[in-house]
Amino acid sequence: MTESSFHGILLAISLIAVLLVASIPSVTGSSGEDVKESPIEDLSSMNHSEDLPFVLVTGGNGLVASNLISELLQRGHHVRATVRDPFKASHLRTFSKAETHLEIAAFDLKEQDKQVYKDLLMGGIDWIFHVAAPFVDFLPQSDETIKIAVQSITWLLQAAQESNASQVVYTGSGAAVYFGYSDNPIKSDPNYIFTEDDWTNVTSMGILTDYAKMKTLTELAAWEFVEKHAPNFRFSSLLPGFVLGTLLSETVTSSKRVIFETMMGTYPGVFDLYIPLVDIRDVVEAHFRAAMQKEESTDSRWANQRRRFLLTRKKGKDIFYPKVAAILKEHFGPMGYSISTWHIPNWVLRIASLFDRELSVMYQMLGVGEQIDNSKSIEVLGLTYHSNAAEMILNTAHTMIQQGLIPKKVGYHARSLFGSGEL
Ligand SMILES: *[C@@H]1O[C@H](CO)[C@@H](O)[C@H](O)[C@H]1NC(C)=O
Ligand SMILES: *[C@@H]1O[C@H](CO)[C@@H](O)[C@H](O)[C@H]1NC(C)=O
Ligand SMILES: *[C@@H]1O[C@H](CO)[C@@H](O)[C@H](O)[C@H]1NC(C)=O
Repeated sequence: MTESSFHGILLAISLIAVLLVASIPSVTGSSGEDVKESPIEDLSSMNHSEDLPFVLVTGGNGLVASNLISELLQRGHHVRATVRDPFKASHLRTFSKAETHLEIAAFDLKEQDKQVYKDLLMGGIDWIFHVAAPFVDFLPQSDETIKIAVQSITWLLQAAQESNASQVVYTGSGAAVYFGYSDNPIKSDPNYIFTEDDWTNVTSMGILTDYAKMKTLTELAAWEFVEKHAPNFRFSSLLPGFVLGTLLSETVTSSKRVIFETMMGTYPGVFDLYIPLVDIRDVVEAHFRAAMQKEESTDSRWANQRRRFLLTRKKGKDIFYPKVAAILKEHFGPMGYSISTWHIPNWVLRIASLFDRELSVMYQMLGVGEQIDNSKSIEVLGLTYHSNAAEMILNTAHTMIQQGLIPKKVGYHARSLFGSGEL
């Protein structure tokens, strides 16, 4: 094997890593490299609408949060968005109404103390969308980093209670539901359908990533707080799968990165990694509905249950990565993008997985695709999912080309993707 093909295989392995951390809100860049004066606004200087709730969104630069902020502004909300590095938030300032309705606050989950959470909620924040996470990269993490996420949500909920916020919506992950079950014979059965009653087993010896562990422990801590303190706000947690679509964030992280590397031809081929898709528009809509819903469900299946909602485009099994690459190839191949759909043999991945604990987790996931039940989000939140996988996949790539993240080939032409019959 030549050095370069081995390098390609390592890259392929890192793609698996990326697939595993899909739907993670991105936390980008390192703070401290800039010494310019901070562009943070004075949090008390803006007018807030009397009619619409004033909203805090944490992790503002990320994949889900950017689209959420754009939509909140369009609907007329005033928004305070926290970002780790305000210098990287320039795309947020280009959103319509940002000049009058958006405040940017610098905030790093890793560095803050309890008081900071109280300050963030000052001025009448009514809805809180907690999207931030302390890490998004698929690398082994210290228990300390995982503790930060858990501590952070507890402080935020405490502050929310003291400030009389009415809604807290936490952007969790499907990784808190359908990981860590491989030593459980019932859940390992391919006919098993995961629902919001399922929790990732964080002590499992099987398929379990540090990301899944973090998302599980953070959400559990939130529910523990809510059940212990019975606060006046309503808490909901949303558990998206692999988020694609017209993603406004300008960083290449998590699910976006999979499409990016495939378009760039970084990987020598494809492998059987499972992708439970959900369109960003549906994820954003779920956030609104979770906060706005007035009546709780009286349906006996959902009444008195925790407000956890799995978000995936389809009930049951979704698609594997080779299909995603094939869809990209069919559409972008003729425009000059070289996309490989060659199937990398599993033994190659097996060998690479011997050298790394995390890779061995990924290797175990090849060919494993969970069935996920999205009925609760449909029946309780009233979501109607966009179901066209090709549209989500192609929109993701088109957006990155238009943002300049992926080079525009000579043969490239933008297409109107919404409502197009050909997808
Ligand atoms: C706030 O409201 C005042 C009075 O209505 C108005 O003059 C001012 O321009 C507003 N400021 C912003 C930032 O919208
Ligand atoms: C929250 O509500 C309580 C009870 O109505 C009130 O006493 C308190 O001042 C409020 N706190 C804030 C920060 O608005
Ligand atoms: C979680 O995994 C551990 C280790 O394999 C196992 O002993 C335990 O029974 C599992 N718990 C559940 C609820 O499946």
